[in-house]
Amino acid sequence: MRVSVIGTGYLGATHAAGMAEMGHDVIGLDVDPGKVAQLSAGQIPFFEPGLAAVLRRGLASGRLRFTTSYADVAANADVHFICVGTPQQADNDSADMRFVDAAVTSLATELAAPCLVVGKSTVPAGTAARLAALLENTAPAGEGADLAWNPEFLREGHAVQDTVRPDRLVFGVTNQGADRQLREVYASVIEGGCPVISTDLATAELVKVAANSFLATKISFINAMAEVCEVTGADVATLAEALGHDDRIGPRFLKSGLGFGGGCLPKDIRGFMARAEELGVEQAVSFLREVDAINLRRRARMIDLAVAELDGSVDGKRIAVWGAAFKPDSDDVRDSPALDVASALQSRGADVGVYDPKAMDNARKKYPELDYCRSAIDAAHDADLILHLTEWEEFRKLDPTTLDGITRAKRILDGRGALDPAAWRAAGWTYRALGRPSI
Ligand SMILES: NC(=O)c1ccc[n+]([C@@H]2O[C@H](COP(=O)([O-])OP(=O)(O)OC[C@H]3O[C@@H](n4cnc5c(N)ncnc54)[C@H](O)[C@@H]3O)[C@@H](O)[C@H]2O)c1
Repeated sequence: MRVSVIGTGYLGATHAAGMAEMGHDVIGLDVDPGKVAQLSAGQIPFFEPGLAAVLRRGLASGRLRFTTSYADVAANADVHFICVGTPQQADNDSADMRFVDAAVTSLATELAAPCLVVGKSTVPAGTAARLAALLENTAPAGEGADLAWNPEFLREGHAVQDTVRPDRLVFGVTNQGADRQLREVYASVIEGGCPVISTDLATAELVKVAANSFLATKISFINAMAEVCEVTGADVATLAEALGHDDRIGPRFLKSGLGFGGGCLPKDIRGFMARAEELGVEQAVSFLREVDAINLRRRARMIDLAVAELDGSVDGKRIAVWGAAFKPDSDDVRDSPALDVASALQSRGADVGVYDPKAMDNARKKYPELDYCRSAIDAAHDADLILHLTEWEEFRKLDPTTLDGITRAKRILDGRGALDPAAWRAAGWTYRALGRPSI
C-alpha cells in the first residue's frame, strides 16, 4: 500500500521504517529539513536500538523515502499517518495542538483524491471529531478524505519491536471501509496474532491517555509506598516483590525509584486533567493531580537525601550524576528526572558532573551549565557523592571496586534501586536507595 507518515520524530521515524518493513511504499514527511536529510541518508536523529538497521533496509529496498513536501505525500500515498508532537503548552497543562492542526490542514489543502487520514499522535478527547470536521471543510471538494484514529503504544528503547509486533491494535473508525483499509495496512501484524480492537473515534483516542494514566498511577502508587517505607523502616523493593506475585496486581511498573519523565506520561496526564476540566469531569481524574505530585516529590526527596548525605549542604561539593536520559536505552531528555535533580543540585552550589551513555548531546543542549564527562568513571573523579539516576545496564554492571581511589568519598545514592546493595557495601560504600532502609 502507499502510506505516508507525517512528523518523523521518535514515533514517526519508527513508524515509517516499520511500515516499509511490513512491505508498504512509504513516504515520511517532516517540516524539519535537517531531519529529512538525516533520515534520507540512513541516519536516525535520536538513539533507538535496532532502528537504524530497519531504516536502512527500507531505504535500500526503494520502499522508503523522506520529503518536506505535502504535495508529494498527497499525490503519492493513500493512507496518511499523523505522528506530529503534542507537547504540553508552555503556560498551562493542556496539550499544544498547533502541530496536529497544522499537519492536517497542510495535508488537506493538497488532497486531490480519496484517502484515509489516520491520527496516531496522543491527543485530548474530542480531537478526532474536530479533525474530521477540519478535514471535511478544508479538503478540496470536501469529499473522499476519511479520518480514523490508531493510537500508538510504542515504548522508547523498544520502539522497533513494539512497531512490528505490537501487543494490540486499536482502530477508531466511522465506517467499515476505513476499518478494512487499516486491517490491510497491518495485515502482517494481524496475521501474526495481534488482537484488534475496532471502535469509534472517541474511544480510540481515549485509550491512549487512559493507558498512560494507569501506568503513571502504578508507578506513583509504589513511589507513595516508598514514602511510607522511608518513615517506617520497611523496604519498598521487598514490598513490591510481594505485591507483584498477586496476578491481579503484577510486578511490572511496580518498581520504586525516581519516578517517570519523558515526552509522554507527564504531559499526557496533565493534558488529560486539563481536558477533563473543560468537559466538566475533572473529579473523575483528580487523582492524577496526586499521581503527578507523588512523582515530583521523588525528585525533591532525592535532592534532600543528597544534601543529607553531604552533611547539610552540597555547596562546593562534587557530585557525579550517572544518567541523563529519562529512561535507559533512549537519548530522550524531555522532562528527565535525572537532569532535573542534577540541575537543582548545581543551582545549590554543587559541582555536578554528568555522564550518560547516549543522551549527552541532548542533555548539553538543555542544561549547558552542567559539567559533562566522558565516562561514568570520569564523572566520579573526586566525587563526594555519586547519584545513580537512569538505569542503564552499563551502570548496573559496573564493578564498584573499579572506583577505588577515584572518588573523594565512597557514598552512592541509587535513585533507581537497580544496583546491587551487597556488592557496593562489600566494596566499602555507603549505599542508599529511595524507599529502602539504610544499613
Ligand atoms: N515518543 C514516544 O515514545 C511516543 C509513543 C506513543 C505516542 N507518542 C505520541 O506521538 C506524538 C509524537 O511524539 P514524538 O515523541 O515522536 O515527538 P517528536 O517531537 O519527536 O516528533 C514530532 C515531529 O513532528 C514534526 N512536525 C511538527 N510539526 C509538523 C508539521 N506541521 N508537519 C510535519 N511534521 C511536523 C517535528 O519536526 C518532529 O520531527 C505525540 O503526540 C506523542 O505523545 C509518542
